[in-house]
Amino acid sequence: MTKPNLQIALDQNTLADAARIAHLAGPVVDIVEVGTILELQAGQQAISVMREMFPDKIIASDTKCADAGSTVAQNSKDAGADLMTVIDSATIPTMKSALSVLSGIQVELYSAWNWDLAKEWKKIGIEQVIYHQSRDALLAGEVWGKKDLDIVKGFIELGFKVSVTGGLNVDTIKLFEGVPVYTFIAGRAITGQDNPKAAAEAFQEEIKKYW
Ligand code: 5RP
Repeated sequence: MTKPNLQIALDQNTLADAARIAHLAGPVVDIVEVGTILELQAGQQAISVMREMFPDKIIASDTKCADAGSTVAQNSKDAGADLMTVIDSATIPTMKSALSVLSGIQVELYSAWNWDLAKEWKKIGIEQVIYHQSRDALLAGEVWGKKDLDIVKGFIELGFKVSVTGGLNVDTIKLFEGVPVYTFIAGRAITGQDNPKAAAEAFQEEIKKYW
């Protein structure tokens, strides 16, 4: 089974902080993400800086786009992004229009999806989804468990590449043993540590244990 990627989510409030952390942990990960918080603070400039820092890595733009799909996708693409997120509640025309300029569109799953909608996304050419436990839900007491695993497996059975995110730490990884997850996306468990490089290495070692 292919080893899942490790993606770092840079959700810092300033590009300077994000660049400092990316300099340390970026070389260890497979995908560098300009997180939603950083998008709102520094947007295109942050994507351009990550592209310059990591010319050979996949760069993700976590816009959680809800409208104006092609414009947001074009802006992300022009800055150097390979992947861009749209929120699950975006309309099919918004998703189609984002896909018309960037093939790496990922639907981020929150609370507006269902299996019929997922089949529609597949029909229009969406190949990737991100299963997300929101940080607010986690703060309210949600935990990762079998219900999440069943949903992830359901999307894989439909033929999607599935990334997983939301409060992940090294101990969460083993829950997905044997499941062909496309990417584990970790933010604070890497970026919030004293040694982000060591934290990213610990994730990679844990992933390699099971895949
Ligand atoms: C927030 C996000 C985060 O980037 C993602 O959930 C990873 O962050 P963390 O591991 O810190 O929860 O998409 O909307």
